[in-house]
Amino acid sequence: RGEQVACTIHATEDGGKISRHLYGHFAEHLGRCVYDGIWVGEDSDIPNKNGVRTDIIDALKAIKIPNLRWPGGCFADDYHWRDGIGPVEERPKRINIHWGQEVETNAFGTHEFLNLCEELGAEPYLAGNVGSGTPQELRDWVEYITYDGDSELANLRRSHGREKPWKLKYLGVGNENWGCGGDMRPEYYADLYRRYAMFCRDFSGNELYRVACGPSGFDKNWNQVVMQRAHRQMQGYSLHYYTLAAPWSDKRPATGFDEEAWFSILRDSLQMRRAIHEAEDAMDPVDPDKRIGLIVDEWGTWYRGEPGTPGYALYQQNTLRDALVAGLTLHIFHENNERVVMANLAQTVNVLQALILTDGPKMALTPTYHVLDLFKVHHDAKRLPVDVGAVDYKYRDQKIPAISVSASTKEAGVIDVSIVNTHAREAVSVSFDLDGATAKEVTSKVLNAEELDAHNTFDEPGRLQPKAFDGARIVDGDVKVDMPPRSIVVIALRLD
Ligand code: AHR
Repeated sequence: RGEQVACTIHATEDGGKISRHLYGHFAEHLGRCVYDGIWVGEDSDIPNKNGVRTDIIDALKAIKIPNLRWPGGCFADDYHWRDGIGPVEERPKRINIHWGQEVETNAFGTHEFLNLCEELGAEPYLAGNVGSGTPQELRDWVEYITYDGDSELANLRRSHGREKPWKLKYLGVGNENWGCGGDMRPEYYADLYRRYAMFCRDFSGNELYRVACGPSGFDKNWNQVVMQRAHRQMQGYSLHYYTLAAPWSDKRPATGFDEEAWFSILRDSLQMRRAIHEAEDAMDPVDPDKRIGLIVDEWGTWYRGEPGTPGYALYQQNTLRDALVAGLTLHIFHENNERVVMANLAQTVNVLQALILTDGPKMALTPTYHVLDLFKVHHDAKRLPVDVGAVDYKYRDQKIPAISVSASTKEAGVIDVSIVNTHAREAVSVSFDLDGATAKEVTSKVLNAEELDAHNTFDEPGRLQPKAFDGARIVDGDVKVDMPPRSIVVIALRLD
């Protein structure tokens, strides 16, 4: 049973809402995420709906995907939306300058993306082009999409088959403008942000939520300058934090690793907390009421590309370790739900910490996908504060907490709890006191495996998936859970 730890779930307290938007996703024109991933085209032999793979539509609906960010990433700041509307055969071919200089056909454009979001029931989140675009281009995109009246742009939309405008709430004003989005200083970006935001208007009852570009990781100066100069003009502020535990120039492999690599990746994923707090340090003084939402619109693991795939395609396997990174990170978002209102895992299909991998007609759901599926019980639920007793996972001279817990309720008499055991080798026995409630029934599922790098393949897509779990039980109204090493458990408690 390993070490023991006691936790208290404050069943009658209100820790605020866990927005379902913390469970958002991101699809960029990069490698095989959009083309040959999500989008195969209507003429493909692969079953599709309006060009989008039906197996992917079904998988994303099953996890109740709340929002989808598009078209980048770095791609966004060199994307010109007019290239992606109108008859497909007339759309210009462009070079994707950021990702391998591949030829971008523009077959997947504004209509294809927004129709996909409608099909999925997901809110679209557009990243606008500030780097190589103009305020007019971005303001026109908003009009084309959202205006219901008689204007040239609204009529152009109609001529392309869409009579009614779409609703568009989330609008990113640039992406990583300190880097691939224009290599700007924060002073310059803050001024540009104000200029662009001013021209992006609300039309026909649509209300934009404008998101300013935030830092990579822990960049205090970017946070301070952009917040001081532009906080009044923004509704959201973005943050990117990737887990590498390695230099950018020499990333780690996604599989075939030892315990050092397991520990290091999990340890670095916990730095998300620091990145959030650094952003908050700049936000709180100018926005003490937390009007501005922090949007972690890129997060996840970043490894070396799989052998035989181009480095710029960012195609990597996804293992049990990634599943734990997802669990730990989602718990950090829950904890910070007063400020963090949305997040987007990078990326949805075939890129970085993907939910789904494809190979021609084959597809595999990754361990990360299964975490997003198990954790959907927390969508829009009320967070219940949890005190977690101290129990460490020690590796050589370092340590991280072995146990991470989050609890929520959305239905009277039911509490959902997710638990992560980061320890590579040891079980931990966790007991929960429900402080104000008594449990009478428990059901649970587990995601775990023998090997640290357990993963799904196209030949064995169901190798790692959640199973029924018999290690959770009720003892005198409290709950005991025997957490296997390297595991994620989700339990549903029915109360007395
Ligand atoms: O997600 C891959 C890339 O990572 C994005 O294009 C960019 O915003 C970030 O650097």
